[in-house]
Amino acid sequence: MAIEKVGVAGCGLMGSGIAQVAAQAGCSVVVREVSSDVLEKGLRSIEKNLAKMVEKGKLSPAEREQTLSRLRGTTKLEDFAERDLVIEAIVEQLQAKKELYIALDKICGTKTIFASNTSSISITEMAAATKRPGRFLGMHFFNPVPVMQLVELVRTIATEAAVFDEIIAFGRRLGKTPVSTSDRPGFIVNRLLVPYLLEAIRAVEEKIASIEDVDQSMKLGCGYPMGPLTLLDFVGLDTTYYIANVMYDEFKELRFAPPPLLKRMVISGWNGRKAGRGFYDYSDPQNPKPVEL
Ligand code: CAA
Ligand code: NAD
Repeated sequence: MAIEKVGVAGCGLMGSGIAQVAAQAGCSVVVREVSSDVLEKGLRSIEKNLAKMVEKGKLSPAEREQTLSRLRGTTKLEDFAERDLVIEAIVEQLQAKKELYIALDKICGTKTIFASNTSSISITEMAAATKRPGRFLGMHFFNPVPVMQLVELVRTIATEAAVFDEIIAFGRRLGKTPVSTSDRPGFIVNRLLVPYLLEAIRAVEEKIASIEDVDQSMKLGCGYPMGPLTLLDFVGLDTTYYIANVMYDEFKELRFAPPPLLKRMVISGWNGRKAGRGFYDYSDPQNPKPVEL
């Protein structure tokens, strides 16, 4: 079965990027949000990204129009009924994801494949909430989705081999390089990346160095494109906090424990770039300023 009709649940940072690349690859895409306001914001960000690509000569105006014509926003879950594949990119909370999958399992045909973009939550646990664990897997994209080349494909002990192969082919069709991994929280990348990001927060919390100097050190000392605190703002501090909690609960290892400063920032709504404030203040988005902590 070729995957042509795709549903994307969530049109935030990740869902908007996933919807964009699937539509660019020629799929018919329906993207669902919880309210029309949030949906509009996500769709505008896709339009802006495509417009930038046209400006840079990476996409023709006709390709941009075709991409947009393949993309439809909705707030109704029922619009996923006929999809070949649903990729879920909603908030990193097990309960919210389980509720969504229980509802989707009733709405979608038995052939529909479910793929979660979770950063850390057990794919097996979400799959077990449905009657289709054989057609359930992880499809973990990276931020920003249109730019980052990797997709981690997560196979559980129940995922059917043919379904997994189909998703490998689909990942390639989106222009991504798939790697396969088993279902352990954090998969490959976040198992390595999350302790590094949390350690950067601890370094600031312990006043080892300023926000700017920690970032500058990893950029200039290691050649990373962004310093860890800039990257945390980019990923979202709320999302990182949820990920750290899931990984700490699973492994009970201090390297995954969310530092108190991260918790305080999330409680205060300082969720990073998308909130206008995290380790930096984005009042002037071209010129972010480190915050006082
Ligand atoms: N959406 C789409 N395209 C974007 C973009 C966005 N949000 N941000 C930047 N780009 C594009 C730019 O348009 C530009 O495209 P061209 O090459 O065609 O001109 C290209 O990316 C490079 O951008 P810039 O020149 O503006 O800036 P840059 O060179 O600093 O690159 C970056 C920006 C690609 C984001 C780079 O800083 C980077 O790679 N940062 C690290 C990102 C990273 O580590 N991501 C993984 C996060 S962890 C994760 O995703 C997993 C998880 O579960 C939490
Ligand atoms: P985000 O906060 O930008 O977006 C999440 C969106 O999901 C919000 O717009 C919210 O309104 C929406 N939502 C919540 N419940 C919903 C529902 N029932 N149906 C449809 N939409 C719903 O978060 P994000 O950064 O896009 O993260 C989404 C998922 O992707 C999480 O599982 C996260 O761990 C994962 N992820 C994030 C990153 C990252 O760098 N931010 C990278 C890879 C994977």
